[in-house]
Amino acid sequence: MNFLPVFLRLAGKTCLVVGGGSIALRKAEHLLRAGSRVRLVAPDIDARLRELAVAADLEIVERGFTPADLDGVACVIAATDVDAVNAEVSRLAQARELPVNVVDDPALCSFIMPAMIDRSPVQIAISTGGQSPVLARLLRARLESAIPGSYGHLGRLAEEYRERVKQALPDVDTRRRFWEEILDGQAAELVFAGRLEAARELLEARLEQFDATAPRGEVYLVGAGPGDPDLLTFKALRLMQQADVVVHDRLVSAPILEMVRRDAERIYAGKARAEHSMPQESINQLLVRLARDGKRVLRLKGGDPFIFGRGGEEIAELIDEGIEFQVVPGITAASGCASYAGIPLTHRDHSQACIFVTGHRRDGGEDLNWEMLSHANQTVVFYMGLDNVERICTSLKAHGRAPETPAALIEKGTTSVQRVFVGDLDSLPGMIADNDVRAPTLIIVGEVVALHEKLAWYNPGEEIT
Ligand SMILES: C[S@@+](CC[C@H](N)C(=O)[O-])C[C@H]1O[C@@H](n2cnc3c(N)ncnc32)[C@H](O)[C@@H]1O
Repeated sequence: MNFLPVFLRLAGKTCLVVGGGSIALRKAEHLLRAGSRVRLVAPDIDARLRELAVAADLEIVERGFTPADLDGVACVIAATDVDAVNAEVSRLAQARELPVNVVDDPALCSFIMPAMIDRSPVQIAISTGGQSPVLARLLRARLESAIPGSYGHLGRLAEEYRERVKQALPDVDTRRRFWEEILDGQAAELVFAGRLEAARELLEARLEQFDATAPRGEVYLVGAGPGDPDLLTFKALRLMQQADVVVHDRLVSAPILEMVRRDAERIYAGKARAEHSMPQESINQLLVRLARDGKRVLRLKGGDPFIFGRGGEEIAELIDEGIEFQVVPGITAASGCASYAGIPLTHRDHSQACIFVTGHRRDGGEDLNWEMLSHANQTVVFYMGLDNVERICTSLKAHGRAPETPAALIEKGTTSVQRVFVGDLDSLPGMIADNDVRAPTLIIVGEVVALHEKLAWYNPGEEIT
């Protein structure tokens, strides 16, 4: 982060704009909107600036910049088309420790002007650190369309009731819940529909009966996908922003965890195959206990919670204990890894079925149905198979699958460090030691794997950081 985003209070203060063209005009308008007085210095003045000076608190000084122009000002913007003047303004302002912005020259700035969305009192500032104003403007256009103008009304409603709600609900957590219900529920919908009075009535009615002690805990069982944060669903993201506490797996990638509400408590629940950091039964009980304490609990799992994710066991316990919950599917490793490796799981010519199977054999458990898994014209995806690759390949061959059947290892699929190794049933085990392949890794067996050579498209090494 090269700049710290802050919002300046400039109301009633004098700000200096050096320059008399259309850019200076735009900057002067921003400053005037923030309530400041503007002193504008330039030898040539655009006619629109003269018009503005008649209607607003804008003083025009028609001559070149002099150091004395900096006297008594709170901030400075240089918007001339003469580099030497801009540099001089910046140097002198910085010598006096005045905040200074030089348009289109980040190196000369002590602050930069963001692209803005103004839904006062709600304001959104977008910055690219001064590196790409065009990108900032494109992002602004996207956000503009996603954030209706009526958010300003919603902000004003919150402003209007802020003190009263604070008095009525002194506990911070209770107050946050109240506001979340108002700002993300029916009251907000009424504001968006232009029914401000009805929204006020609803808010007051809720404030009257808001029960701070009623435990309203629930559990969101959410699939976080295989690693790339862009593969999260909208619903997953919304619940991640809402939860009070997150109980997460080892498979949930760091960039995804960063998207969870900043002040949510984080509880790591394991599980690497060899070191189960928390037994499943303890996790189930933890979810129940946290929800009973009134928390909104995000149970965040890699991939999809219902595919080798033990999600079924967790919600069975929640049902038994009468806890509210929602389940949000995620992209499972097979879909994510296959897509990012350029391996279609089915193909009209090569594979008419796809089977997801666990490669992790429980001690004393049933062996897999190798005969069924060894049929031709199907794709078999092994989860948790890394430690058993030798046995997997040998068993498939013993039950009729050809030794030259293509097979792939996909390590940390969809992430910026994804690696893909392609061989066949004979060569696959050797590839693990040769390349130091580690978990999480997915194994895909079937003719479709050969398509990787032509269809591979994802180059994690080329990612821009
Ligand atoms: C306990 S299972 C969880 C599967 C998860 N619920 C899903 O739907 O993807 C863990 C196994 O999934 C596979 N896996 C999960 N994420 C992966 C990734 N990003 N790359 C490769 N394999 C992955 C590995 O085989 C790993 O051993």
